[in-house]
Amino acid sequence: MKIEINKMSVSDLDLIAEKLYEEFDDLWNYNVFKSELESENSKYIVAKQNDEIIGYAGIWIAIDIAHITNIVVKKDMRRTGIGSLLLQELINMCKELKILEITLEVNEHNSNAISLYKKFGFEQVGLRKKYYRNQDNAIIMTIDFKRDKAV
Ligand SMILES: CC(C)(COP(=O)(O)OP(=O)(O)OC[C@H]1O[C@@H](n2cnc3c(N)ncnc32)[C@H](O)[C@@H]1OP(=O)(O)O)[C@@H](O)C(=O)NCCC(=O)NCCS
Repeated sequence: MKIEINKMSVSDLDLIAEKLYEEFDDLWNYNVFKSELESENSKYIVAKQNDEIIGYAGIWIAIDIAHITNIVVKKDMRRTGIGSLLLQELINMCKELKILEITLEVNEHNSNAISLYKKFGFEQVGLRKKYYRNQDNAIIMTIDFKRDKAV
């Protein structure tokens, strides 16, 4: 299957928003997402197969640190390598931008995502207690390019 990864446009966001609750299981408030998309400090990408959006991901950049804000794959397409393609693309973008460190928060119960991040070299560096609305803790993970020269 041919999968393309492109920069996300507002029309992509509109398509995602229409289907989001059934086919993905995550979305910030539409307006927050849209303003993120228009912000110079954010970079969002989509994975498409035959023009259908099957995943998306984004980072927010503060000088030389990038924060992964979102990485989501369409439910019926999970475990087929799309999350890995998106994460690799985010990492490549960060390297091109000379980012020194990538950080993220992930729910401590989200073992699928934690495995994905570990596979790409992210390490747990902290815990934010009761970070989520349901009081679950968040694990903080990072890749430090200053130290990890070989990612
Ligand atoms: C996390 C997520 C993006 C992974 O995307 P994906 O396309 O399924 O991931 P991939 O197929 O590329 O899998 C890459 C690795 O992730 C891990 N992984 C993903 N799904 C897994 C599962 N169901 N069980 C165990 N490990 C899993 C594995 O380490 C896997 O590598 P492997 O196949 O060599 O074992 C996807 O499950 C998702 O959209 N989840 C909901 C949104 C979310 O939780 N995002 C993260 C927010 S922090």
